[in-house]
Amino acid sequence: MTALTVPPATTPLDGEIHLPGDKSLSHRAALFAAITTGESRIANFLDAGVTRPLLRALQNLSIPWELTGDVLTVHGRGLTGLPRPVTPPTLHCGHSATTMRLLAGFLAAAGLPAVLDGSPGLRRRPMRRITAPLQAMGVPIEDTDGHAPLRLAARPAARPLRGLTYRLPVASAQVKTALLLAALAADGPTTLTEPGPSRDHTERLFTAMGVPLSRPAPHTVRLTPPLPERLLPLRFTLPGDISSAAFLIVAALLVPGSRLTLRNVLLNPTRTGFLDAVAAMGARLTVTPLGKTYGEPFGDLTVEHTPGLHGITVGGDWVVRMVDEFPAFAIVAAAAQGETVVRDAAELRHKESDRIAAIVSRLQALGVAAEALPDGFRIRGGRRWRGGALDAGGDHRIAMAFAVAGLAAESPVTITDADIIAQSFPSFAAVLQACRTDQP
Ligand code: S3P
Repeated sequence: MTALTVPPATTPLDGEIHLPGDKSLSHRAALFAAITTGESRIANFLDAGVTRPLLRALQNLSIPWELTGDVLTVHGRGLTGLPRPVTPPTLHCGHSATTMRLLAGFLAAAGLPAVLDGSPGLRRRPMRRITAPLQAMGVPIEDTDGHAPLRLAARPAARPLRGLTYRLPVASAQVKTALLLAALAADGPTTLTEPGPSRDHTERLFTAMGVPLSRPAPHTVRLTPPLPERLLPLRFTLPGDISSAAFLIVAALLVPGSRLTLRNVLLNPTRTGFLDAVAAMGARLTVTPLGKTYGEPFGDLTVEHTPGLHGITVGGDWVVRMVDEFPAFAIVAAAAQGETVVRDAAELRHKESDRIAAIVSRLQALGVAAEALPDGFRIRGGRRWRGGALDAGGDHRIAMAFAVAGLAAESPVTITDADIIAQSFPSFAAVLQACRTDQP
């Protein structure tokens, strides 16, 4: 295991950064390309630990693709043009719940048999949230006590799935996407309602591909068959990952004199809760919208060191719009004067780690006053913290958040299991290093 040591910054951070493509868009673009007919070309594709299992799965399902530099080309043959394996392949999803949940929906739609498995960490993530509604649509899928491995049996092409009207118990774009994929093979409409605004990339991409989707009410999406004969291939450049941007925003906020510009970052409003949160804390952050690609807004972000940040309370729909950013947010909260409280965020206990426990225990190890709540946490910030060695508990976002905390600590912070960062942001350490002006 490789460690990453981040010494306190003694001079400002400075730089202009182009981030790898957004993780959620990379997963969707690669997989959805496989159900279109023709050649999709996806530039600025995120080549990382979380997307490799998906690419390998496509290969195992005989869906041809090439990755040349950061351009992924996928040769789609439509949902019904996929070869049927004689024996069900085992598709290893690594640590990636997105890969597993989206593949389950894809295989359900294609009627293909497979076993979906993953790392010990992924086997602990909840899967009944997809298997139960998929079964209600007629998908022959079984989980293992609510978890992976998942087993899908073949479904004859002549037997369509049933449309579903379903209220998701938790806002989850992965569940919504798995069900919308399955709905492609249903003989009636599927209507999904969520308790909050989960990311809507699937809706935007499906619409661009020609899938008949509507949004009849807030947090509700409906897919109404029939589909057009061919879905249109995808040709676009992915905006930079706003979830990766969050760590660099924190870095600039913490280090005196810093100024960072992040170019072409995804600005989908279901993903910008973290920007709203740091802005509410007083951050000097400028957002410059530049346009839309496939319905996805993107733009530049400029962030400057901000003394005098203050604590805030975050809850409700706001949590859903920044669900992956709480590790990064917790470091800003530790620097901000006064109390920061996060509520309505019990879902954080089901991410790559129990992020409520992971955040609080590591902040405490650095000497920050932090307390876990059943559905969130409370942080009393504004005092400098100490350095030390921390493990990330197999969670890439915990690793990056606490690596960045090292910039503002009294002594270096070492992340002992930093390899995990390559799951979502393989160039993180190099990008951070390139922004430093105090190190060769
Ligand atoms: C994702 C949805 C979110 C998020 C994950 C990516 C997606 O998970 O945490 O990193 O791409 O759909 P949930 O659907 O479980 O909320």
